[in-house]
Amino acid sequence: MIEHYPVLHRKVLQFFSPIKEGYIVDATVGGGGHSYLILKKFPQVKIIGIDRDETALKRAEEKLREFAGRYTLVHSSFKNIDKVLQSLKISCVSGFLFDLGVSMFQLKTDRGFSFQREEPLDMRMDTSQHLTAYQVVNQYPKPVLEKILFQYGEEKFAKKIAKMIAEYRKKKPIETTKELADIVVKAYPPSLRRGRIHPATRTFQAVRIEVNKELEEIKEGVSKALDLTEKGGIIQVISFHSLEDRIVKNIFKEAKKLKKIEILTKKPITPSEEEIKENPPSRSAKLRVAKRV
Ligand SMILES: C[S@@+](CC[C@H](N)C(=O)[O-])C[C@H]1O[C@@H](n2cnc3c(N)ncnc32)[C@H](O)[C@@H]1O
Repeated sequence: MIEHYPVLHRKVLQFFSPIKEGYIVDATVGGGGHSYLILKKFPQVKIIGIDRDETALKRAEEKLREFAGRYTLVHSSFKNIDKVLQSLKISCVSGFLFDLGVSMFQLKTDRGFSFQREEPLDMRMDTSQHLTAYQVVNQYPKPVLEKILFQYGEEKFAKKIAKMIAEYRKKKPIETTKELADIVVKAYPPSLRRGRIHPATRTFQAVRIEVNKELEEIKEGVSKALDLTEKGGIIQVISFHSLEDRIVKNIFKEAKKLKKIEILTKKPITPSEEEIKENPPSRSAKLRVAKRV
C-alpha cells in the first residue's frame, strides 16, 4: 500500500516505458512514491532521487529500502542538477521526473504551509535556507508584497491585503499562520469570505512561492534537465497551478523550436475522475512530457 498517492503514476510509468536501462532522475523524490513504482516496474533502471527537504529524503530512504543499490538520494535543489550529476560522475541520464510543489507530508509538518492550523510563519522546504515566510510577511515593503500576492497568488485583492498586512505589522509582527489568514479574511469583501476556496489560499501560495523561489527553480531545473537527458530520453513534469504550467509549456516550446525535443503531450494530461475521487489534491495536476531528440 502506498501512503502518498503518486499523482498520475500510471501515465508517468507509461511514458517512461521506452526506457529500458540507465538512470532516471526523480527531481522531487518526496516520500519516494513515484520512484518506488519506477524501480518496481523497470528492473534495469536506477534512480537518482533529489529533494531539498531532508525529512522527505528520510521517508524516501525507508520507502525504497528494498531496492538498495539501485537508488541514490541527494539533498539538493533540483536547480543544481548539473552539479549533482557531476559529483556522481554521470554525464547524462535516460529520464527526468518533476512532481512540483509541496507534498502532503510537508502540509502536515509544523512549518506553516497550511492556514488550517496555528503555526509559526516558516514555509521553507529546505530548513537550512535563510529566508522564511516571517521575513517576507513582516519585512518586505508593501509594494513588493502586493506584487508577490498579485503575481504568484493571482490574488485579485492583493492591494488591499498588502495594505492590511502593512498596517497590522506597524503594531506587532505577524507571527503565525492564523494571524496572517485572519488578516487576509478581513481584507476580503464580506460576501466573498465564505466561498468554496478559503480567502487565504492564494496568499499562502504566493508567500510559499516567494520563500522557496519556486518559479526560478523550475525555470533553471527543467531547462538543465533537457540538456542532461540523452537522445530518446523522456522528461516529465507535473505541475499544480497555472504559473508553473506556463513556465513548463514555454520551456518546452522554446526547446522544440531549437529541435532539442519532441513534445509528447499536445495538451497537458490531467487525472481521471477516478483518480481525483481517490486523491482529491491531484485535481489540479497537469502532466507535460517531452522526448529528447
Ligand atoms: C509533490 S512532492 C513529490 C512527491 C513524490 N513524487 C512522491 O511520490 O512521493 C514535491 C517534493 O518536491 C520537493 N521540491 C520542491 N521543490 C524542489 C526543488 N526546487 N528542488 C528539490 N526538491 C524540491 C519538495 O520538498 C517535496 O518533497
